[in-house]
Amino acid sequence: MNPDIDAIRARFPSLSTQDDGISRVYFDNPAGTQVPASVAKAVADCMIESCANQKGPFRTSRRVDKLISDARDAMADLLNAESADEIVFGQSMTALTFSLARSIGPTLTPGDEIIVSQMDHDANITPWVMMARDHDLRIRWLPFSIETYEFDLADLDELLTDRTRMVCVGGASNLTGTLHDIKAICARARDAGALSFIDGVQSVPHVPTDVRDLGCDFLACSAYKFFGPHQGVLWGRREAFAPLTAYQVRPAPSAIPGNFETGTPSFELMAGTKAAVEYFDWIGTNMAADYMDRFEHLAGRRQRLHAAFGLLADYEQGLSSHLIAGLQSINGVTVHGVTDADAMHRRVPTVSFTAGQKDPQTIAEALDEENMFVWHGHNYAVEVVKALGLEDRGGVVRVGPVHYNTPSELDRLLDSLESRILSA
Ligand SMILES: Cc1ncc(COP(=O)(O)O)c(C=O)c1O
Repeated sequence: MNPDIDAIRARFPSLSTQDDGISRVYFDNPAGTQVPASVAKAVADCMIESCANQKGPFRTSRRVDKLISDARDAMADLLNAESADEIVFGQSMTALTFSLARSIGPTLTPGDEIIVSQMDHDANITPWVMMARDHDLRIRWLPFSIETYEFDLADLDELLTDRTRMVCVGGASNLTGTLHDIKAICARARDAGALSFIDGVQSVPHVPTDVRDLGCDFLACSAYKFFGPHQGVLWGRREAFAPLTAYQVRPAPSAIPGNFETGTPSFELMAGTKAAVEYFDWIGTNMAADYMDRFEHLAGRRQRLHAAFGLLADYEQGLSSHLIAGLQSINGVTVHGVTDADAMHRRVPTVSFTAGQKDPQTIAEALDEENMFVWHGHNYAVEVVKALGLEDRGGVVRVGPVHYNTPSELDRLLDSLESRILSA
């Protein structure tokens, strides 16, 4: 069953924007998606109708308190968290991860080991490397295969020791698009007595995310990658947060989640994040009936949200194979990621390519001339670009469709690459 893409696109005003009569095509989604009108409205409504600080004895403040609680409930449903208290909002995934690392560091002992991966965005590397520097810990690197673009879990087994305290990996790569077997990785970390920290920034927008089923201890994501505003979200198991001391001012709450939300949070962005979750609920309610059985263990909004992501993931697999087949048919193009047509469930539709010696930035600029937006370079996945030997060649061109994109938009990009940009 396919989602009703016309109905979906009608909810995003920016998708019908034209410049000089040419419609825009957004393939820059891994760096940030467009938002439904309801998300923008929720942000504006909060600022007009509930513009107050929290926990005051008056109407607008009470409305803010309700909004915060509703936003946490929404994120808890999206991630199937046990409790809404386990949801922390913050400036960005990066800022939240640095803050968490600052609190985890003092609980560790010099010589303890932290596993980070070569496939990850720097936001899931440098916070841990700096924590290791500050507390005399040892960083151990999980490599990936440049043939399969996946981890070999035997490598992880070799890295795990009785000193391993954390395993920090991403749900999906923002450069190669590989979806990792997070459940297996978390099980291994747990068996070794280590915590797992999952960077869900690139997986949460594309696949159902159930933190309890994954068996992770922490998972961070960013609302602006899943059709919401520029806000980060950190989920942690209550027991994983328990031994940590948050960096906070004295009058602030001493318990989660408030202790990790330093200063006055962005209430209007919480309103937008809640509206983004409600957008997926609308998809679940109206389009994903066939997917509800797969999530029978969930109920109510949780079930509808997971069904919505199940539906969208299947649709996006079609976009991935269309895009990859099209790119591979162009002379001189190399796709850096999983390309096997039967393995589209092992990747998200974020597809990076190079075209011989052609400069990725020049290709991105040429696409912009036709109002098609893509990113180029390392996209902060510096270790990936190094491993692929593309560091000195300007990295890659990254095409990142999401569910609101269509095969005809992909054809527009492929035609332009083949007949104009790469033939020159
Ligand atoms: C995989 C991944 N992790 C982390 C981040 C950083 O997220 P934020 O901008 O919320 O700090 C990004 C941003 O592109 C990302 O793609």
